[in-house]
Amino acid sequence: MGSDKDYKEITPQLAAQIIEHNRLTHADMAELYDLSLPNLYHWYERRLLGQDIDLISTLLPANQPVQVLDVGTGTGRLALQFVRRGWAVDGVDLSAEMLAVCQTKYDALQALKGQLRLVCGEIGQLTSDLSGPYNILAFSSVLHHLPYYMSVVERLLEVLAPDGIIYITQEPMPADRVGKSIAMRAVQLLDQILRAPQQVRKHLVRIIRKLPRPQGMPLTDYHDRKGLDVDRMLSLLTSQGFEVKRFRRYQDRKTGLVAWLDTHIFHTPNWKFRLVAQKSL
Ligand SMILES: C[S@@+](CC[C@H](N)C(=O)[O-])C[C@H]1O[C@@H](n2cnc3c(N)ncnc32)[C@H](O)[C@@H]1O
Repeated sequence: MGSDKDYKEITPQLAAQIIEHNRLTHADMAELYDLSLPNLYHWYERRLLGQDIDLISTLLPANQPVQVLDVGTGTGRLALQFVRRGWAVDGVDLSAEMLAVCQTKYDALQALKGQLRLVCGEIGQLTSDLSGPYNILAFSSVLHHLPYYMSVVERLLEVLAPDGIIYITQEPMPADRVGKSIAMRAVQLLDQILRAPQQVRKHLVRIIRKLPRPQGMPLTDYHDRKGLDVDRMLSLLTSQGFEVKRFRRYQDRKTGLVAWLDTHIFHTPNWKFRLVAQKSL
């Protein structure tokens, strides 16, 4: 399960290209990343993320230091939340530019120094830099960027503590249709209209800071269109003795209101998932 032979269409050359496209894309967008992806920062996403972290907290052993491995840390969306909880975080990322933004944000949290260690590298290649055992393995919006994501998860389970937790979020569900329905276009239009002030702000920041427009790299979100193989992920976890504590589908939209409406009322086919699972002792 999860070995490279399961990805028949991904040759080693294609895998190297996917990784290179990710490196270039994230180098390009690092400074404007947080402003470019409001779906990761609006109130609805923050509410769901807070609920997940609260759940994870209740699953951790009491009164013991907590060590987290955050894969694809980026600008620190998860890592800095974990650090705020007093947990020690190893953040791994391919992009030095994304990590530099994360470091700057971390440095601004004066009181919390010493809890974040950033490692720049490709997760499929890293071994010796991962100290482990980790209480939490976290993946936010990164698995769909990895050529061989099942293999990466399977390998990293080896550095998880015996009662460790895996947290996966902001990943695409398997896509059930390719084209866009009228409902989907209408929801996207509403989202874009409500997002307009935020877009204006982003463009102003780009102009003031003289940042170039990112080049589109077609292989960056390689598994996004088809979605992740959730069934295989769940059977990998259950076969390794994990109990799923939360599995949630939700809509990933640019504004909190539209994300909430689409998740609870419209249900257009654009689902992401988040899961929390814990290994039984
Ligand atoms: C969409 S961002 C997500 C960042 C962060 N986790 C978040 O939730 O905002 C994906 C991140 O994964 C990193 N990444 C992509 N491919 C990678 C790889 N093969 N190894 C390590 N990091 C990778 C990118 O550089 C980028 O910072």
